[in-house]
Amino acid sequence: MTAVKPVLCVGCTVIDFVTINESFPTEDTDRRCLDGYWQRGGNASNVSTVLRLLGANVDFFGMLSRSNGFRVLLDDLDQRGIGIQHCPKTEKDPPFSSVIIVKETGSRTIVHCNKNYPYITWEDFRKIDLDRYGWVHFEARQSQETIKMIKTVQEHNRNHNSNILISLDFETTFEKNLPLCGLCDYVVFSSELASQQGWKSSQETCYALASSLKPECPSIICPWGSTGAACLDTVFNKFSNVAAFKPDHIVDTLGAGDSFMAGFIYATYVMQCSLSDAVSFANRVAGHKITDFGYDHIAELQADNKLATK
Ligand code: FRU
Repeated sequence: MTAVKPVLCVGCTVIDFVTINESFPTEDTDRRCLDGYWQRGGNASNVSTVLRLLGANVDFFGMLSRSNGFRVLLDDLDQRGIGIQHCPKTEKDPPFSSVIIVKETGSRTIVHCNKNYPYITWEDFRKIDLDRYGWVHFEARQSQETIKMIKTVQEHNRNHNSNILISLDFETTFEKNLPLCGLCDYVVFSSELASQQGWKSSQETCYALASSLKPECPSIICPWGSTGAACLDTVFNKFSNVAAFKPDHIVDTLGAGDSFMAGFIYATYVMQCSLSDAVSFANRVAGHKITDFGYDHIAELQADNKLATK
């Protein structure tokens, strides 16, 4: 484990203002929630948190802010031992999300406010010493910059005879982000985006995406809520559907997708699992995440992660 190089997670960090509600609020009413808190959120930021809780070494690379409101995020990154040494800083206020969790179902409704907060650029990324890392994870956004960052990792692999693995979290803007996929080893494709494409199942999504990517096709993973997750191993041309891990109670589904992503990276990279075993572990991490608020309880899986895919 000590020989495993850190993972670099590239993307956003935001503040999540979370309220827990008896039921979903009616429009134009004034009501009290049952409880609430704020926490660090954002896709790559949550992936970093969960990877740390599972026991991996992680650096986050995203735009940080000097604004006072951002202090809570910096403190949290620091307390969790997530490296931020490469991150550029802006004076702008951080992006935030209002999150409504409904107690009865654990559903989360996110309203995100970004206000054109700056995104990290290739100019920032190229200063990083990639030799430090064994895996680089990207969010599929700002495709013009991200494509250059991914190509820089590929170039590093060629020039240094190394094999840094590259994953992509693909959740939005299909046409713009599609060109990123062929450059990665693993793409996790969201069911929400699949539905927007008119793809009706995780299996259909894997094959439809693969056919739009040929001949440069990564392994494709498509989580599909309680029905489980599908994966298409394009190296061995093998399709599998992996059953979901169904917890006996659901409390908070915020960040379940990010927890899946982190579980997948951890199982593939650190535990050296096969694709379908890694998806199974990812299902388990996501399934455990939703049994409680926040992310800290995910550390409970660390102790028995060797047994996790059994
Ligand atoms: C959950 C999340 C939240 C954040 C939102 C941004 O997946 O990362 O933490 O508010 O998505 O879209």
